[in-house]
Amino acid sequence: STVDWEESSYDTGGHAHFLLKEIHEQPTSVERTLSGRVDERFSTAHLGGLNMDAREARAFTRVKILGCGSAYYSGELGAQLIEELARIPAHAEPASEFRYRNPVIEADTLYIAVSQSGETYDTLAAVQEIKRKGGRVLGVVNTVGSAIARECDGGMYLHAGPEISVASTKAFTSTSIAFALIALHLGRVRDLSPADGRRICAGLKAIPDQIREILAQEKEIAELAGKYADHPGMMFVGRVRGWPVAREGAQKLKEVSYVHAEAYPASELKHGPLALIGPDLPTVAVVPDDELLEKNLTTLGEIRARRGPVLMVGHTRPDPKLAEDAILVPRNEPELDPILLGIPLQLFAYYAAVALERDVDKPRNLAKSVTVE
Ligand code: G6P
Repeated sequence: STVDWEESSYDTGGHAHFLLKEIHEQPTSVERTLSGRVDERFSTAHLGGLNMDAREARAFTRVKILGCGSAYYSGELGAQLIEELARIPAHAEPASEFRYRNPVIEADTLYIAVSQSGETYDTLAAVQEIKRKGGRVLGVVNTVGSAIARECDGGMYLHAGPEISVASTKAFTSTSIAFALIALHLGRVRDLSPADGRRICAGLKAIPDQIREILAQEKEIAELAGKYADHPGMMFVGRVRGWPVAREGAQKLKEVSYVHAEAYPASELKHGPLALIGPDLPTVAVVPDDELLEKNLTTLGEIRARRGPVLMVGHTRPDPKLAEDAILVPRNEPELDPILLGIPLQLFAYYAAVALERDVDKPRNLAKSVTVE
């Protein structure tokens, strides 16, 4: 199905920038991505566009996700969702690397290409290479009828609406939602129980209102962004579920504010980057309330012991000794929480860029879609 976009998609609708408008559109863009796809009767996702029957969906032994930039990071989040819910080994790789390394294409691997524009040349080249070698590739794409969508064997449209700002926000979130639906679908033809399927269906339906709750904290997030934007650089850390969120948070900050941002798995800090930690390098820590909470709080203690400022993004207010600042988001299901934890980091990057008077919608040296080699 296709949706026609009104003229109003192409003006800022009263917002100062497209980026801010698109951040605020997310409750409705997520609703559109979910629309007609959550099957509560059978606790699964209804995804006719995959062109894959249950027997085929059970046959894959591996999932490989390809995309560039934010599409790649959303693929990392997606790989985790697929492993958790469907228990199929899943990995994401930059499409740009994949296409240059003579990849081994396996018949029992499901390939998934991710692209907002559907026109990114590196991603298209990866899809063509897979198809040339007989692999099956699905597309998770926003732009209907785009080159990547046409080249794939099936897939899902995001229906997020036109994304104008160079930095991706609503397409990133909708791609993550699309992966949750794919993971639910693949899980329910395998070993995900009906009860767990029901839990994920309910969790998905709660996300739009929970995003509204997060966006209501805009003023506080803007103040924090102003406070941290003066630093020459920032560290972003997360463990397992928090790790792709940290990577995308760092990407957003460097794209629009030009502040150097480095993302590291929290567990890797002690293997190198801890040497950088001190009063000049604040850390944004993505801390879901999951079985790794205690481990993450220990990491915060290690950062504070070196006088590194900490801004925690999580669900419960931390001991002020561990993080001087915190942004709290509502809890969903543990598997889906990363999607929500990413939202405040978009506002954080936006307001850091505004504080530094950057060209928010058109950052220097970047293009919305890179259609050349
Ligand atoms: C460019 C943009 C990024 C985007 C990437 C992939 O590099 O600057 O914001 O994430 O392309 O774009 P796509 O349209 O394939 O998702």
